[in-house]
Amino acid sequence: MSLWLLILCFYLVNTGFKAETQDEFDKREPYIVYMGDAAEKYNAEASENHHNLLSKVIGDESKAREVRMYSYGKNIDGFVARLLPNEVEMLSREEGVVSVFKNTQRQLHTTRSWDFLGFVESKYRRSEAVESNIIVGVLDTGIYIDSPSFDDKGFGPPPAKWKGKCVTGNNLTRCNNKVIGARYYHLKRPNYNDTAADYDGHGTHITSTIAGVAVSNANLFGIANGTARGGVPSARIATYKVCWEEGCSDMDMLAAFDEAISDGVDMISISIGGASLPFFEDPIAIGSFHAMKRGILTTCSAGNNGPGLYTVSNLAPWVMTVAANSVDRKFETVVKLENGYTATGISVNGFNPKKKMYPLTSGFLASNVTAGDYGEPSACEPGTMGEDKAMGKIVYCEVGREEAGGSSEGQDHIIRSLKGAGVIVQLLEPTDMATSTLIPGSYVLYEVGTKISDYINSTKNPQAVIFKTRTTKMLAPSIASFSARGPQRISPNILKPDISAPGLNILAAYSKLATVTVYAKDTLFSIMSGTSMACPHAAAAAAYVKSFHPDWSPAAIKSALMTTATPMRTKDIEAELSYGSGQINPRRAIHPGLVYDITESSYLSFLCKEGYNSTSIGLLLGGSNETKKEYRCVDHKQGLGSDGLNYPSMHKQVGSKGTNVSETFYRTVRSVGYGPSTYVARVWAPKGVGVEVEPRVMSFVKPGEEKHFKVVIVGVMEEAMRGILSASVEWDDSRGHLVRSPILLFQAGKM
Ligand SMILES: *[C@@H]1O[C@H](CO)[C@@H](O)[C@H](O)[C@H]1NC(C)=O
Ligand SMILES: *[C@@H]1O[C@H](CO)[C@@H](O)[C@H](O)[C@H]1NC(C)=O
Ligand SMILES: *[C@@H]1O[C@H](CO)[C@@H](O)[C@H](O)[C@H]1NC(C)=O
Ligand SMILES: *[C@@H]1O[C@H](CO)[C@@H](O)[C@H](O)[C@H]1NC(C)=O
Ligand SMILES: *[C@@H]1O[C@H](CO)[C@@H](O)[C@H](O)[C@H]1NC(C)=O
Ligand SMILES: *[C@@H]1O[C@H](CO)[C@@H](O)[C@H](O)[C@H]1NC(C)=O
Ligand SMILES: *[C@@H]1O[C@H](CO)[C@@H](O)[C@H](O)[C@H]1NC(C)=O
Ligand SMILES: *[C@@H]1O[C@H](CO)[C@@H](O)[C@H](O)[C@H]1NC(C)=O
Repeated sequence: MSLWLLILCFYLVNTGFKAETQDEFDKREPYIVYMGDAAEKYNAEASENHHNLLSKVIGDESKAREVRMYSYGKNIDGFVARLLPNEVEMLSREEGVVSVFKNTQRQLHTTRSWDFLGFVESKYRRSEAVESNIIVGVLDTGIYIDSPSFDDKGFGPPPAKWKGKCVTGNNLTRCNNKVIGARYYHLKRPNYNDTAADYDGHGTHITSTIAGVAVSNANLFGIANGTARGGVPSARIATYKVCWEEGCSDMDMLAAFDEAISDGVDMISISIGGASLPFFEDPIAIGSFHAMKRGILTTCSAGNNGPGLYTVSNLAPWVMTVAANSVDRKFETVVKLENGYTATGISVNGFNPKKKMYPLTSGFLASNVTAGDYGEPSACEPGTMGEDKAMGKIVYCEVGREEAGGSSEGQDHIIRSLKGAGVIVQLLEPTDMATSTLIPGSYVLYEVGTKISDYINSTKNPQAVIFKTRTTKMLAPSIASFSARGPQRISPNILKPDISAPGLNILAAYSKLATVTVYAKDTLFSIMSGTSMACPHAAAAAAYVKSFHPDWSPAAIKSALMTTATPMRTKDIEAELSYGSGQINPRRAIHPGLVYDITESSYLSFLCKEGYNSTSIGLLLGGSNETKKEYRCVDHKQGLGSDGLNYPSMHKQVGSKGTNVSETFYRTVRSVGYGPSTYVARVWAPKGVGVEVEPRVMSFVKPGEEKHFKVVIVGVMEEAMRGILSASVEWDDSRGHLVRSPILLFQAGKM
């Protein structure tokens, strides 16, 4: 027995273990034990209370110490421990425990855009002094502090309310007056760089979209050249790194939320998501609930699993869930064949051709293996083509594999390794997403690919050329195909996504510690697509609204953005299930006229109505042993109707039987204009559908006044509607305030 083992045995004997073997220990898995609100609950350390609870359940003090990984206790009460199934069972029955759920990994929902929103620098009003008091917290892959987008020239010291920290480490050795806070979370996992530096690029991209300062001559390989800037360039940034190579873990996100709330952030942006779960088992729903309690709005990405129905994530009614739409700029990469045939593909290709024409071949012709044995050469799979047959040529790859350009498995990467001159990839489905390529490359539609293949097969010396990507105008906004769609499964009568924002081919800052394509190490900007990119646009718009209305609740800010949003130019069949209220319009959102507000206690009664346990809901209220009040779900929701919340959109998933539908929505609005005002209701509905608003006219004597109204929609779900009945109600004061709410009824099984 080695000395090391002897020492270990000695240790085990002395700590009095009922010696759990390594195998047994490995059966333990990290679980989050969520215990509600932490405020005022503890006189001493929260962790002591967690330790006592855990010891009681495990029946062994030192074991309890060993298995506990995290204790939260600033705002969120809870802890993380490696547990066995029976311990999970016992803990979830404990008084004081709201939920116990397994720690899982969630994923990142991987600039012209502000101008496109009519938010042109110099043409809109900003209060730099107030804006520079706003701190936006970003939970992501960290930050590349040396990006010119985070230059703090002209910024004063952090706002007095800031209580956060700059935790330095590898490649992030300082913060500045722009990036005032940085923290990272990856507890008890070795082989990580202890740093909030961004080795991925995603976090830097998102953060600069929110609050980057203006940087001119920003481009990627010369493409999309212009001035890049964030929506609130004077605001401050606090970065919370929760995502690492394998994803973003629940326990790290909760830790970040817990600290960000106390640090003093005003807004939280989080472009991360995963499976949709009941709210008390979803770290983003939990974290954002506690943020809401402290007046902080959390903005989330809707997810990238569209266009199928039921794909939307981040569903809690207290978050703002953002879909991705196009801007009016599109990236075209033209391919020309020697016979004169010209086709337009999509990509971000920064290479200018050096020759008029290049020899053209296909993966099939460049093959040096028998198809099927080593992979599919016609689809340019790795190891199936000979260098001698590809060198110096443009290679055409048939549809077959879906690998992102720039990734080590991408066709561009494979052809580059064979010293090819370029790559043309056939797409199975049309895409609106431009991928940057390592060598000259273009992604072409299926039919275009077939034409090119035909040319190769029927020509003796096929030749082609790929031109540098150019940008052209396109009709916008329309929703991106990948953007996740409703309806949602957790709270079926809350419409999600809430809103949309640009998320297609967005140019923003990038991290020099990451790479856009494997070989281009030093790019300061990058073009990315995803609801990840849409989320920071909406978060910045929310910060912008807050800079005019610092005292508004998170729900009021969200309402202002939703009721002033611009409906899509091109409606897809999923209608509001794709884009909610429409595209953000920050300039209008600062003067919404009316707001639909929601208080913490309305969210609690909503949770009652959704069937959550009232003991658990009581724990969300917080309070110490002395001040804690029993929470009782009572039926005081008359006046709210079927959805039970004063939401700025109106939605119901109606039963699948029968085609006649009839729903009533009850709402309350508060005047936030100046002086007296009178609003008249206007409705839009498909033919044969009746929408009644009662009253049709509302007069407000002074700001702050509240009025109630109800909306009754009655109609027949025609076959042609395919289960989606889309209508809207708009309050108009004839003085420029149009307060619009979409109404969407959904009947399953009709699409
Ligand atoms: C609160 O009350 C419970 C049960 O009455 C007790 O076990 C616990 O120690 C108390 N906690 C604090 C912080 O006083
Ligand atoms: C990151 O840190 C490493 C180690 O300190 C250093 O060698 C490297 O140059 C840094 N990279 C950048 C881009 O600053
Ligand atoms: C750690 O930092 C080094 C540079 O200092 C970098 O090359 C490496 O990729 C980083 N590792 C991880 C896991 O982020
Ligand atoms: C980008 O635009 C600026 C101003 O129009 C120009 O000076 C610069 O050369 C351009 N850069 C590239 C790479 O096209
Ligand atoms: C095909 O060519 C590639 C690249 O030249 C080489 O790595 C591979 O071993 C070859 N395969 C066969 C079966 O010769
Ligand atoms: C060209 O030839 C290859 C190999 O026979 C075949 O797989 C492909 O379908 C042909 N292309 C067209 C357009 O017929
Ligand atoms: C809520 O859950 C707890 C723990 O499972 C249980 O003891 C309690 O009776 C439940 N309360 C209600 C109102 O169902
Ligand atoms: C549905 O509504 C139509 C007209 O609105 C009415 O004629 C019909 O009787 C209704 N059908 C049912 C089953 O209620």
